[in-house]
Amino acid sequence: LSKKDFLNKKVLITAGPTQEDLDPVRFISNKSSGKMGVALARAMLERGAIVDFVHGPLQVELPKHSNIQCYDTKSANKMADVTLSLASSVDIAILCAAVCDFRPQKIFAQKMKKEQNSFENISWEKNIDILRTIGGQKNKPFLVGFAAETSNMIENAIEKCINKNCDLICANNVAESSAVFGSTKNHIVVVNKNNVVKDLKEQNKTDAAHEILDLIKSLKCPTQL
Ligand code: C5P
Repeated sequence: LSKKDFLNKKVLITAGPTQEDLDPVRFISNKSSGKMGVALARAMLERGAIVDFVHGPLQVELPKHSNIQCYDTKSANKMADVTLSLASSVDIAILCAAVCDFRPQKIFAQKMKKEQNSFENISWEKNIDILRTIGGQKNKPFLVGFAAETSNMIENAIEKCINKNCDLICANNVAESSAVFGSTKNHIVVVNKNNVVKDLKEQNKTDAAHEILDLIKSLKCPTQL
């Protein structure tokens, strides 16, 4: 029997990669599968929350539930538009999408030709940082970010938590032997602006999601949730 300790809490979750088009047939993206975001959404739904789920192209099935509203996006720009329009009306935002940091400045209308050196001359434009933007807002929700690191994981995650004004950052070491991207398991260490809050050990993403929710519950107005 599951506890409904997030009953009617409004929760925004981002998940999956973004995809930035180069031309009609090519894009740049990353290895995110969306599994962690889906696990978080399922855990929230199970525990009574009302979920806005903003996602890029996923390799997993979306949760089907009367309390979830899914927003299918592709580019970082589109994900940012949708996410930012929802952020002020939620209690908790968990941003675990792997948003592409850059997009090609220009999307070619025709397929790029290798003979024309077009690949050597791609200019890149920085995408908006959705997490940092929400972190800078006045009435921001309880804000949880993710960080995929290959070195100095804890230090980098704490710095990210400070710079983006988050309440928690869930850090993954993507250099660890067990793959994180696409895997059903991962090893998350949760930090705040000062310290390690909890080392969640290696486990499946469903159990990790529930542990993250337990931490959110204990930190965000424990009497309200
Ligand atoms: O800076 P970095 O990309 O490592 O930060 C990762 C965290 O920031 C994740 O929570 C991710 O969802 C979020 N992010 C974002 N918008 C971006 C880049 C990252 O929301 N453009």
